[in-house]
Amino acid sequence: APAPQPYRIGFSQCTNGDAWRQAMLAGMKKELSFYPQATFHMKDAHDNSALQRQHIQEFLREGIDLLIVSANQAEPITPIVEEVFNRGIPVVILDRRTTSKLYTAYVGGNNLEVGQTAGAYASSLLHQHGSVLEILGEVGASPSIDRHRGFVQGLAAAPGVRLVAQVQGDWKRPSVVQALPAVLRAHPEVTLIFAHNDRMALGAHQVCKQLGLDRRIKVLGVDGLAGPQGGIQLVQDKVLAATLLYPTGGEEAIRTAMRILRQQPYDKENLLSTMVIDSTDVLTVKMQTEKLDQQQQDIQRQQGLLQAQLATYTNQQTVLYVLAAS
Ligand code: FRU
Repeated sequence: APAPQPYRIGFSQCTNGDAWRQAMLAGMKKELSFYPQATFHMKDAHDNSALQRQHIQEFLREGIDLLIVSANQAEPITPIVEEVFNRGIPVVILDRRTTSKLYTAYVGGNNLEVGQTAGAYASSLLHQHGSVLEILGEVGASPSIDRHRGFVQGLAAAPGVRLVAQVQGDWKRPSVVQALPAVLRAHPEVTLIFAHNDRMALGAHQVCKQLGLDRRIKVLGVDGLAGPQGGIQLVQDKVLAATLLYPTGGEEAIRTAMRILRQQPYDKENLLSTMVIDSTDVLTVKMQTEKLDQQQQDIQRQQGLLQAQLATYTNQQTVLYVLAAS
C-alpha cells in the first residue's frame, strides 16, 4: 500500500518579529513534534496585510490541508480566508480574528476579557477616581478593537474614572515614544496608562520617566511574557504596575488543527483566559514559568535520548542485515 500523504498545515502569521510571536511558534513546534504525520509551513507577513493576503493565495496554489491564520488586520484578510474556508479547507484562526464567521475554529486569548479586567483593575488602582489614557494596538486588528471595547466596559463600573485620551500605536515601542509626550502634555491630569501590549507599555514608562511623571502615572500592559525583557520581569522591576496575561495559544492551535484533520471532535471556540500579574503574585507566576521552562527542557533532553537510541537501533539493524547477507 502507498504510504499515507502527510497533512500539510499552512500558517499565515501576521508577523514573527517579536518575542510573543516567537513564543507562539515555539509552542506550535513543540506540539508538532508529537505529530510526525504533519508538515508545517509558515509565511511571515511582517505586519503587512497586503502581503498576508498574497501569502494565503500562495498557500491555496501550493495546496494545504488546513490553514492557521493570525490576521494582521481583520477586514483586509477576511475575503481570502473566507475563500479558503469555502473551498472546503479547514481554517483555524489564531489570536487575531477576521470579521467573518466562516472559519472552522478559533484559538486564542479572550481580548474582551483582557480589556474588561484591565478596566476593573485600573479603577481599583485609582480608588475609583482619576483620568486614564489608552494606547491602542494596530488599527483594525481584532485584539485592539476588543481590548478597547472591554476596557471601556471595565471602566464603566466606576463613573469617577474617565478615559480622557488615546494614542494610536502599532504594537511597537517607537510609535509610543514618538506620539505620547504631546498627548501627556495636553492631558496633565492623567494618572494611569493602559497600553495594549507590554512593548508599548515599556515605551509609555520610558516617556513618563523622561517627563518626570513616572511616580505619578501607573502603567498597565498586556502579554505577560517570561524572560529578561518580558512583562513578568517588567512587573517585578516595577516598570509596570501590572500586566494582563495573554497566552499565545500556539500548542492549542496545533492540537485543534490535528483534531480537525483527523476528524476527531473539537470545539469551535477555544478562548484562553487571562489573569492579572502584579506585585502580589509576580513572584509566584515567575516561579511557575521557570518550573515549566525546566520541564520543557527535560522533555527536549528526553527526546534527544530517544532519537539517539533510535539511531543506534537502526545501525544495529543494518549490521544484522549485512551479517545475514554475507
Ligand atoms: C505580538 C502582539 C502582542 C499582542 C498580540 C495581539 O505580535 O503584538 O504583543 O498581544 O500581538 O495580537
